[in-house]
Amino acid sequence: MPTEPPARGFPEGFLFGTKTSAYQVEGSVDAGGRGASIWDTFSHTPGTTFHGDTGDVTADHYRHLDQDLDLIGELGVTAYCFSVAWSRVQPLGGGPVNQPGLDFYRRLVDGLRRRGVMPVVTLFHWDLPQALENAGGWTARDTAGRFADYAAIVAGALGPEVGMWATHNEPWCAAWIGYGTGNHAPGRRDLGLAVAATHHLLLGHGRAVQAIRAAVPGAQVGIDLNLLPVRPASDHDDDRAAARRADGNLNRLFLDPVLRGEYPADMLAHYARHRPGFEVVQSGDLAVIAEPLDFLGVNFYGPMTVCAPTRMAEARAAGYWVPAAPPTDPLNADLRDVEVHRPGFERTPMDWEVEPGALTELLLRVRDDYGPRPLHVLENGRASDDYVSPDGEVRDPERIAYLAGHLGAVLDAIAAGVDVRGYFVWSLMDNFEWGHGFSKRFGLTWVDYPSGTRIPKASFAWYRDIIRAHALTP
Ligand code: FCB
Repeated sequence: MPTEPPARGFPEGFLFGTKTSAYQVEGSVDAGGRGASIWDTFSHTPGTTFHGDTGDVTADHYRHLDQDLDLIGELGVTAYCFSVAWSRVQPLGGGPVNQPGLDFYRRLVDGLRRRGVMPVVTLFHWDLPQALENAGGWTARDTAGRFADYAAIVAGALGPEVGMWATHNEPWCAAWIGYGTGNHAPGRRDLGLAVAATHHLLLGHGRAVQAIRAAVPGAQVGIDLNLLPVRPASDHDDDRAAARRADGNLNRLFLDPVLRGEYPADMLAHYARHRPGFEVVQSGDLAVIAEPLDFLGVNFYGPMTVCAPTRMAEARAAGYWVPAAPPTDPLNADLRDVEVHRPGFERTPMDWEVEPGALTELLLRVRDDYGPRPLHVLENGRASDDYVSPDGEVRDPERIAYLAGHLGAVLDAIAAGVDVRGYFVWSLMDNFEWGHGFSKRFGLTWVDYPSGTRIPKASFAWYRDIIRAHALTP
């Protein structure tokens, strides 16, 4: 008789969470005095998002707050991460505070606490007030100061009820997709601006850390980075150099300044010819950026393999899926890396490769290269081609398998001595997936657009049971 593998328990106090972000779920973009953000402007610009989709209504969370709080309670998570829309709190990104905006998040925090759920706040999840973008957005140094002011306002208002504060969510995306490739708001395509945006986002992070700590003594503060192993398609020097450049841009450009107080030398050299680029760095900035943190948030979706543009034929011959021509977007054309896909690995509808072990590898690398510190996997999950069956159920076995694999990968990292303290599923519910609009569903809960009806998927019940057991059961 084959025996079932034993359940694998999580450490005591390990946080099981789920996460959303303001622009992706809230809707009600004109309600309660909210000002416009760059995502309002961008998504309403023809040709920017799939199908012309926008966040005007999306999951309508703003008007379903009580129902969604109950959903979170039923799921049984011990933590819930949401982002605050800056333009609800300060419609113009600076100046007067809009009390109804703060009141909305106060209700959310209180509702979570009443259900025994720890609120985790992200201060910036990409929806910069449009008024600030009009003054240069993250390419302008002043925005870092505005961000610290806003952080102080939110910290003062929500206070010690918030269990953890993340300054930014995935600043790489805000800088490099927002200002580099132009595929996200504000849609600018200039690598010199992307470098400047990177620096000002990080400077804003450091100043916000100081502002939160001043407002809430003892606050747990960190930053949330999208990180991933980048591997060369072969051992050839050109492929290894391409992987090193991609790793520099995606991972080290953020990890090094935040955790070591310096930009990586190869990236300083690489971007030296772009203006303004690193010229925006002023003395003293890196000390602020490297303000010690209470935790590092890691968002992980899958690993990446790259080859050099000169090595595409060899990669193809080795069995990789290789694009017909090298990338022409400014970011990758400049990095001279070509993303390829390995044979035998499943890819999600986002085209992201599924390999749970890569998460263990990543967590070990962060520990080994940057030293031990509390880590939280603040986003992990997958899109799948979900649908409502005639019986009204949404069965998503691919998502369950993905989450089980990655929770196992977290347990492997913990067994190897990495201090991982929490895991958050992206996302509580289906929502506006940026440039992909509503074509990609990541939720544990199905959302019927635009009626707003919610249907917990099979993965919702599965995750609830894992949380109850506090163990990964077979
Ligand atoms: C991350 C974002 C999040 C969501 C997931 C799928 O990069 O932080 O908002 O879009 O990807």
